Amino acid sequence: MLNLNLEELQQQQTPFYAYNLNLLRQTLQASKQEADKYNYHVHYALKANANAPVLDAMREFGFGADCVSGNEIKAAIENGFAPQDVVFAGVGKSDAEINYALEQDIFCFNCESSHELEVLNELAEKKGRVARIALRINPNVNANTHKYITTGLEENKFGINAWELESVLEQLKELKHLELIGIHFHIGSQITDLTVFKNLCTRVNEFQEWFLARNIQLQHINVGGGLGVDYYHPEQQPIPDFEAYFGLFNQFLELRPGQEVHFELGRALVAQCGTLISKVLYIKNGQNTNFAILDAGMTELIRPALYQSYHKIENLTSEKAEARYDVVGPICESSDCFGKAVILPETQRGDLIAIWSAGAYGEVMASAYNLRDKAKAVYL
Ligand code: LLP
Repeated sequence: MLNLNLEELQQQQTPFYAYNLNLLRQTLQASKQEADKYNYHVHYALKANANAPVLDAMREFGFGADCVSGNEIKAAIENGFAPQDVVFAGVGKSDAEINYALEQDIFCFNCESSHELEVLNELAEKKGRVARIALRINPNVNANTHKYITTGLEENKFGINAWELESVLEQLKELKHLELIGIHFHIGSQITDLTVFKNLCTRVNEFQEWFLARNIQLQHINVGGGLGVDYYHPEQQPIPDFEAYFGLFNQFLELRPGQEVHFELGRALVAQCGTLISKVLYIKNGQNTNFAILDAGMTELIRPALYQSYHKIENLTSEKAEARYDVVGPICESSDCFGKAVILPETQRGDLIAIWSAGAYGEVMASAYNLRDKAKAVYL
């Protein structure tokens, strides 16, 4: 399912992102089918990949849009997402972004602090509007993932802490231009241990009780995203186990009549459909270390440099005997390394190298460091 057509790849100028739209559609179909079983709503987290063909597919399959900036909201709306399918999260929403979202009358602002509530209320009042909000609560649940992508612990900047909720409810009584419609959680990303989500459900149930005890009925519970993918064997399980994921929430989340459950998946929907394709520029043999120097680097895919993330690396054009390489990019940083001591077939200048599972948080996190050109995207 991950196969790419070598001849097609060889015609392109490297480095570039190759997207397998068939795999994307199969992934969306599988996710939709499982979510529909329980009438769950999924808002796609645009931050993972906001390319137009990806957004087209999301919209066609009926996903909403989870946005973290004014430009993401704009991209979603220009792509054809209905404003009532757009949610807006983020700890640092600017006034301009809030105003734009208010003008678009988006479905919901996921609010992260009492100060933000105050500002949102003020801006909504100026526009004569009432903003629908969900309180993003920091549930203090450990996601067992990389510390840079853990978001649900007290030490993280995200969300309103449990002990603040009482005073936030008091505050909301005064904020007449806000309407509380839900609660929101997102505890981290690349979560592969599903018991973490079970722990999240337990906390959500406790918060539900807490709100109910104060006579507050919430229209929706947003449990965020975070479902991880298999970076080690992308070919074996290119489509995440959505059945287990949504089934777990169905089993453990306690809902009140009429309540909706919302999700914000990013990575799980798009990671495996994108591959970074690069060419070997040089081979440099050291005493202990041989380097394969690629024409792609951390400017195209920063995850290995930033999080020491593993991405499977494959030489698409050599079938020689195996050798060991540090696979590095051309950028003037030692962290510009895709993998150390990678076993590849003997590799030479001009070989095509695939770096798999790069559809999520790849292109969107690219930079122009060293004044590099932006790698283009090819849809296959
Ligand atoms: N909702 C919220 C509020 C989020 O902050 C995120 C991701 C998502 C949903 C989507 O999470 P996902 O389903 O994709 O795990 N750049 C990092 C990942 C950062 C994730 C940030 N928030 C990486 O490359 O691993």
